[in-house]
Amino acid sequence: MESQKLSAKLGSSCFFFCIFLIFAFLASFADAETHYHEFVIEARPVKRLCRTHSSILVNGQFPGPTLEVRDGDTLVIKAVNRARYNISLHWHGIRQLRNPWADGPEYVTQCPIPPGGTYTYRFTIQDQEGTLWWHAHSRWLRATVYGALIIYPKLGSAYPFPMPKKEVPILLGEWWDRNPMDVLQQALFTGAAPNVSDAYTINAQPGDLYRCSSKETTKFLVEAGETILLRIINSALNQELFYAVANHKLTVFAVDASYVKPFATNFIMIAPGQTTDVLITADQKPGHYYMAAHAYNSANAPFDNTTTTAILEYTSCSAKKGQSMKPIFPWLPGFNDTGSATAFTSQLRSPSKVEVPTEIDESLFFTVGLGLINCRNPNSPRCQGPNGTRFAASINNVSFVFPRRNSLMQAYYQGQPGVFTTDFPPVPPIQFDYTGNVSRGLWQPVKATKLFKLKFGSTVQIVFQDTSIVTVENHPMHLHGYEFYVIGSGFGNFDPRNDPAKFNLVDPPRRNTIGTPPGGWVAIRFKADNPGIWLLHCHIDTHLPWGLAMALLVENGVGKLQAVQAPPLDLPRC
Ligand code: C2O
Ligand code: CU
Repeated sequence: MESQKLSAKLGSSCFFFCIFLIFAFLASFADAETHYHEFVIEARPVKRLCRTHSSILVNGQFPGPTLEVRDGDTLVIKAVNRARYNISLHWHGIRQLRNPWADGPEYVTQCPIPPGGTYTYRFTIQDQEGTLWWHAHSRWLRATVYGALIIYPKLGSAYPFPMPKKEVPILLGEWWDRNPMDVLQQALFTGAAPNVSDAYTINAQPGDLYRCSSKETTKFLVEAGETILLRIINSALNQELFYAVANHKLTVFAVDASYVKPFATNFIMIAPGQTTDVLITADQKPGHYYMAAHAYNSANAPFDNTTTTAILEYTSCSAKKGQSMKPIFPWLPGFNDTGSATAFTSQLRSPSKVEVPTEIDESLFFTVGLGLINCRNPNSPRCQGPNGTRFAASINNVSFVFPRRNSLMQAYYQGQPGVFTTDFPPVPPIQFDYTGNVSRGLWQPVKATKLFKLKFGSTVQIVFQDTSIVTVENHPMHLHGYEFYVIGSGFGNFDPRNDPAKFNLVDPPRRNTIGTPPGGWVAIRFKADNPGIWLLHCHIDTHLPWGLAMALLVENGVGKLQAVQAPPLDLPRC
């Protein structure tokens, strides 16, 4: 009797609980919105550094349009290609769960959109909030095809700090006084390094230190005493940057759309692909203050050593006539100040204890770095690299070749053979002193399209080891479709015996792009819970076409919810 009553009671409370669950479920959808956009990709005249170029832009905007959504929302973006180049768009940092078709890297998850073609990117933001961005993922088109992608918290949830008075995206970019596509094409023909840029930009303006630019210098107005949020994005093609605002402390609270323990700093170091969110309080004497960015150059190679500026202006000052006061200039670390760069990144930690995989199924060790391809005829116009060679780059000595006949994902889904192999080496084929004096015999990588297969749900550790082949360098490694924990890093060769003991498995930062310290290593961990083919590459656009990339093939798990969705019908074909 008693037990019958109990079960009846349980049954009815379960009934009400289920009703409640259904309502909660519906309510969570009721708030989610679908945002429709059309991105018309087209050449437009853009005047910078005294000269006008015909630049490829989205909707005539430079930087491109800012996308603003909430966590849980869906984006539907129809890309219309009215330019003369093939193009594809990538939503950098969006996880694209089971939906590689919307990811964008050309010849990886889709064939590019041909001139005159269209493709609609459809994706839902799932449990992400913060600053991300979007950019072209076709050769060097992202020099001018990029914009911010801001994800606000779900309705009803708030930032983990008081609401700032204003929010501004700060897109750091790079400008060539030439068509960037021609700069790349010339380099790929000659085998030499491409020309460095002519300017850096803040929101597409070079600023006061360049010719014909100061009239258009970007200005940010603040009221004395207020706190504003700067969403800083490094959309430059090839350069890690130091950034600072004169006399103002920056409080860093998120990187790559993941919160970190807030800390105050005078400058940040940000690599191509990364984002950094900071709060800044206008607590100085009302006036004009420069914000500025210049290179952090970790390689032994030429670089653009110019400085871009914008102005933080207290509104009480803008009333005064004319450019009476010269803005104050911030201190920035020197171009090769690896100490400052490292000191900055080592402060990044997750806000509290996080769930880092501890049992590792796949432990990968990837050497990353440059290489040189020897030529039969070193005097050839196609061998203008060092000593009559052609520049290359590789991971575990494999220099990645993008397919042309089909995209990897389409070939995989259709079961088309011959487009790629899955024998990417989990460790370097030859062990050597990676950061020492590497013998010339090890400088030449092998070109191939190799993927590494992962079981759905497996836990993965990757140690990226920079090499000193040609030069040591900070390579910002970006993994598509995932966020990972950065559990450790160091200089020199990774020591598998002693270094793992120093891993931070408590509160490591979560990111989508992490730089190898120059001549050092960095270790990441993640769970392979997103099926599909995901590009892993250096976000320096000089290194990517040289082959500093590979792709992970994450197999489907069991059932529909662990399998790649069907491709959209308008997916371009090669
Ligand atoms: Cu932001 Cu594969 O790129
Ligand atoms: Cu690189």
